[in-house]
Amino acid sequence: MANVAVIGAQWGDEGKGKVVDLFSRDADIVVRFQGGNNAGHTLVVDGQKTVLHLIPSGALHANKLCVIGNGVVVDPQALLEEIQGLKERGHLLDDSLLRVSEEAHLIMPYHKSIDLARERLRGKGKIGTTGRGIGPAYEDKVARTGIRFIDLTEEETFREKLRHNIEEKNIYLKAILKEKTLSFSEIHDTYCGYREKLKGYVTDTALLLDREMKAGKRVLFEGAQGTLLDVDHGTYPFVTSSNTGIGGVCSGAGVGPQNIHQIIGISKAYTTRVGSGPFPTELKGPEGEKLKQEGDEFGATTGRPRRCGWFDAVGVRYAVRINGMTGIALTKLDVLTGFKEIKICTAYRADGATYYEFPSSLCVLERAQPVFEVMDGWGTPLSGTRKLSDLPKNAQKYIRRLEEILNTEMVLVSVGPGREETIMLKNPFSS
Ligand code: GDP
Ligand code: IMO
Ligand code: MG
Repeated sequence: MANVAVIGAQWGDEGKGKVVDLFSRDADIVVRFQGGNNAGHTLVVDGQKTVLHLIPSGALHANKLCVIGNGVVVDPQALLEEIQGLKERGHLLDDSLLRVSEEAHLIMPYHKSIDLARERLRGKGKIGTTGRGIGPAYEDKVARTGIRFIDLTEEETFREKLRHNIEEKNIYLKAILKEKTLSFSEIHDTYCGYREKLKGYVTDTALLLDREMKAGKRVLFEGAQGTLLDVDHGTYPFVTSSNTGIGGVCSGAGVGPQNIHQIIGISKAYTTRVGSGPFPTELKGPEGEKLKQEGDEFGATTGRPRRCGWFDAVGVRYAVRINGMTGIALTKLDVLTGFKEIKICTAYRADGATYYEFPSSLCVLERAQPVFEVMDGWGTPLSGTRKLSDLPKNAQKYIRRLEEILNTEMVLVSVGPGREETIMLKNPFSS
């Protein structure tokens, strides 16, 4: 019985939420394993839009167990708001269907202050973070000063860790970042309130997953962000602070690699990026504007406009390799309707050299000029199409060409934001 991982193959916002919601039908358990509420995963079901930041995108199906793994950094306030929002809309009524790892680290108010202040100080060189405190929370985790849910449940441990952190962070905030300092007692009391409200959800999720998998339950692992934002493999330093790729599943959920059977990369039929950093196929003129408008490319978390460009096959091929992707779900093909020509970037050129493989050097990436293959477009809207053979011939050619270049098969083509606006080609759970 297959377990499936869904991983972003670009710079995030590929449509993971939609695909995970769709795949959840065949899963018993959906697991987030990294990132935090920097993620914004959009689900459109029966015309109603839901954006999830922390809770796995299986939550709109009844009776799916949603797990927030140890690799996620959790802002308890954001989690509580999300739980409440879902309950108000008739979801997640059974609290036992949400489990949060006791090893997951907490995002604290100083993480957010530090994130925002650093970005301000960086000025033009800013990363363009979501301002949710993600980087500073992961820094503390690696520095071994972070506070986990399990620490929060142990009053003495929590007080001691918080006191130590507040002392250190206040010096940093005041002297280096020229920011307001924070009060121990205020944060302590607020977080004790969160402890009471969240304690019923907190457990050893790695143990839970092991037991459920041994009982034959099917698991869907839901990545956040995308491979090119991975802290190891992405366009460093313009990345997020976690392993967004397949490696993050094992460390962030506490499962062995033999438990992952299919690795599905999610990719838009073009490319977007929100925040700073190199983007070789970016279109700064009217074509980019058309992609932004037609694709409604505004961030699901911050509302920022997303930068848009042609499909970057160098980047996606790299994502396929780094993650061992077994298939691709191609999203937003409908957005390409109306373009006379559609371009695929198959290599980069920089300083007289041609790059067929994704370069590690930021300088090369910043200077990289795309080498394009040009394909004919189509004019017919696609959102009503449910069969590959009913797509316009040029759209079919585009898909087949991408499969060739990426050397990977398409398992799904998405032609609209709605759950039903999908051409299913292969069910990864029955592979
Ligand atoms: P995620 O972060 O990977 O889950 O992606 P986001 O939810 O941040 O961004 C994807 C956006 O595209 C959302 O607004 C989705 O509703 C929308 N979307 C997903 N698939 C399609 C599609 O095939 N066509 C169109 N037009 N929109 C889509
Ligand atoms: P989903 O899961 C797109 C980007 C930010 C910034 C960089 C670092 O919805 O695909 P951070 O706040 O993580 O320290 O910001 O990463 N970023 C995302 N871009 N989609 C996301 O998540 C993102 N999460 C973070 O814009 O460039
Ligand atoms: Mg998103």
